[in-house]
Amino acid sequence: MTNKKNPGDLTEVLSAAEKIYRPSKKIISQANVKDYEGVLKQAAKDPLAFWAEAAEELEWFKPWHKIIDISHKPFYKWFTGAKCNLAYNALDRHVKSKIKNKIAILWEDETGRSRSYTYLELYHEVNQLANALRRQGLKKGDRIAIYLPNLPEIAIAMLASVKIGAVHSVVYAGYSAMALAERIKDAKAKILFTADGSFRRGKAVYLKEIADQALKECKTVKRVVVVKNSQAKIKLNPQIDIWYHDFIKHEPTEAACAEMDAEDPAFVLYTSGTTAKPKGIVHVHGGYMVGVFRTIKWVFDLKGEEIFWCTADPGWITGHSYIIYGPLMAGITTLMYEGVPDLPQPDRIWRIIEKYKVNILYTAPTLIRAMMKYGTSWPAKYKLASLRLLGTVGEPINPEAWKWYYKYVGKNRCPIMDTWWQTETGMHLITPLPVTPLKAGSVAKPFPGIIADVVDKKGRSVPAGKGGFLVIKNPWPSMVRTVFNDPARYVKTYWREIKGRYFTGDVAYRDRDGYYWIQGRTDDVLKIAGHRIGPAEVESAFVSHHKVAEAAVIGLPDAVKGEVIKAFIILKQSVSPSEDLKGELKAQVRKTLGPMAVIKEIAFVDKLPKTRSGKIMRRVLKAEELGLPTGDTSALAS
Ligand code: WTA
Repeated sequence: MTNKKNPGDLTEVLSAAEKIYRPSKKIISQANVKDYEGVLKQAAKDPLAFWAEAAEELEWFKPWHKIIDISHKPFYKWFTGAKCNLAYNALDRHVKSKIKNKIAILWEDETGRSRSYTYLELYHEVNQLANALRRQGLKKGDRIAIYLPNLPEIAIAMLASVKIGAVHSVVYAGYSAMALAERIKDAKAKILFTADGSFRRGKAVYLKEIADQALKECKTVKRVVVVKNSQAKIKLNPQIDIWYHDFIKHEPTEAACAEMDAEDPAFVLYTSGTTAKPKGIVHVHGGYMVGVFRTIKWVFDLKGEEIFWCTADPGWITGHSYIIYGPLMAGITTLMYEGVPDLPQPDRIWRIIEKYKVNILYTAPTLIRAMMKYGTSWPAKYKLASLRLLGTVGEPINPEAWKWYYKYVGKNRCPIMDTWWQTETGMHLITPLPVTPLKAGSVAKPFPGIIADVVDKKGRSVPAGKGGFLVIKNPWPSMVRTVFNDPARYVKTYWREIKGRYFTGDVAYRDRDGYYWIQGRTDDVLKIAGHRIGPAEVESAFVSHHKVAEAAVIGLPDAVKGEVIKAFIILKQSVSPSEDLKGELKAQVRKTLGPMAVIKEIAFVDKLPKTRSGKIMRRVLKAEELGLPTGDTSALAS
């Protein structure tokens, strides 16, 4: 306990009601890290030594001169002078050991189809694709756009891209043509991977059609590689399109791995922020592989034999780090499920765990809450004894959902790793380890080597129990390096708010035991079923409709999705509000952004609360909507 007792504060109340969930003797005896507090202390004393030791566990073509170079901060560089390749560590190195015959990817889809790849098979196919990409003229630094569902081929395309030193930009397959086009244009991608179609909730989704629409605006793409995944009858344009199986057919199964500088970009991943334009978050080969490898091995206590199921989509950072690169670097089996968890029945998720004997389940609060609604009888029907650890990510988990997950899925014996991190951080930053005593709803403490703080506007630490801005005080290897094409935005977004600190955009507090409790975002960024959506992107989608003059959107709490979107719309003069128009506007957002940006409610209004400089105060709308105090409204224009 770090702070003195303060009877009035929030922590006191929580601590009194809080139950501590301690790991069993078995969990402790098998843990990779047993002395939690000792490791934290040691790493805090010398974070660089900690990360250098972590880096030694991977293979490098050439060692580093310096662990970190801070001379151009906040453009930190890690492992400078080193040569390496992320894909080499995820794949090539395993082919030299008996891991090569292990299953790397297990795949199943909603309709019941399944496939698997051993490490060797995956390695061969990645090499074929790498050769095909090189034959196509792609080289180091070129951008490759990937618009694919959760299929083995998405992993293959990502790995082949990284292997040849190109930079992939995966665009979640739930995004619309316009959103895809915007991302392709920003990255100036030369090639696009997509599929003929996929299924979602039993309905066919024609991805190639969406991609074709997007490409009308994208002049840089010279080749479209199409994975055959459905029975969709599609027409290929021989000038530009090629089936994936034809693209790789005659290619050799060996390919040289590009020797990359540790600081060369491996991928860019677009994420939402406060403006309408998404940010291209850049991650590099060296630091990213070190951070992801160390966290997956420690947080999920990997021994090398696990069946690991992360239910995210590879289109988000969670999928990049913990469906693809993390599990593969660790040489374990990653399960990819393309579908929803409750089809044909609400037991699908439990059935998959039993069928594949999943050891670690890493999912999101929204999914847990959805399963809770169906009741405990569904998980009770299945043998979940293979589970050893559970994980959650993406949004704060309410204690009720945490306890349900712990009791009915983990059967009171599987610790829950509530991992806090971001697209920008690349890896878990605040999370328990399996031996950490847990509190339902808390993300516990910063990972070893990470120094976090909760501060006020001036950057001063606030006492336990007081809310403040969550910041990170020191750099870490897998941190975002820049915003693609926009280094000034990188500096402004992450390093200007609180001087010298990485600004996470989250609000949190610490309790007397130093445990962190995440309370949400400071910047109105929405989390709908775990998907990060910028309010300005949704507003700009509304405003692109010819009948809309102005729009403001807020997130309202929702029992399953975490948040849902409510929009306040000012119509253009002479346009009359109607229910039909609401439907039209909802469709417009869906068309502009994609199906995950579901609008729950629309209210037509005459006025929006604004600052004198004309900025919409979403905070005021939200407080009014929820019947809360509006707080400081001195900036509000009268
Ligand atoms: C939120 C997802 C509470 C947080 C990996 C963060 C969380 C944003 C947690 C990043 C958690 C993520 N508890 N909130 N365990 N994990 N968040 O970029 O607000 O999609 O800033 O990355 O999700 O979302 P992103």
